[in-house]
Amino acid sequence: MSLYFNLNGMQEKKIDLHYKIYTSVAELKEEDQQLIDKAKKASLNAYAPYSQFRVGTAILLDNQEVITANNQENISYPEGLCAERTALFYTSANFPKNTIKTIAIVGNNSLKTTDKPITPCGGCRQVMAEYEGKQQSKIRVLMAGVEGKIIEVNGIDNLLPFRFVMD
Ligand code: THU
Repeated sequence: MSLYFNLNGMQEKKIDLHYKIYTSVAELKEEDQQLIDKAKKASLNAYAPYSQFRVGTAILLDNQEVITANNQENISYPEGLCAERTALFYTSANFPKNTIKTIAIVGNNSLKTTDKPITPCGGCRQVMAEYEGKQQSKIRVLMAGVEGKIIEVNGIDNLLPFRFVMD
C-alpha cells in the first residue's frame, strides 16, 4: 500500500494487487496442471440446472491430498452454494489441521464456450481469507476457463483487499 496524498490528516492511498497471467496451462508446472485438470473434471459433476454454469474446484493440501467440489444449485436459488465454498467447508470440516496450499477454479458455461478464467465471487473470497487467517499462511489461487489463459494470485489480499474483520 503506498501513500498517495496527505492534506490536513486525510490520506489517499493506493493498493497494488499482484497477479500472473499464463497464456495456457502448458506454461504451468506439472502439479498445477494436474490440479486444474481435477477442477475441470469436478466441474462436470456440478449440479447447475438453473444457471447451466458449471464450476469445479480442486484444493491441494500440505499432505498432498486433493479435495474437489463443484457448485450445487437449488430451486430456492439463494440456497445453492458455489464450488469454492463447497470445497473449502468440506476441507475445513474434514482436514481441520491441514494447510491449504493452492485452490484451482475452473468455470464452464454449458450454453456457450468461454475461455475466460473464472474469478471467484466476493463471498468465496471472504471465505478464502478466513481460512488464510486460520492457517496463518497464504493460499495460492489458480483461475481458469475450459481452455486459454490462467490467472494466478498468491494470497487472498490480491483478490479481496478490505475484507471484513472484527477487531
Ligand atoms: N458460482 C460458483 O460456483 N463460483 C463462483 O465463484 C461464482 C459462481 C456458481 C454459483 C451458481 O451455481 C453459478 O455459478 C452461476 O452463478
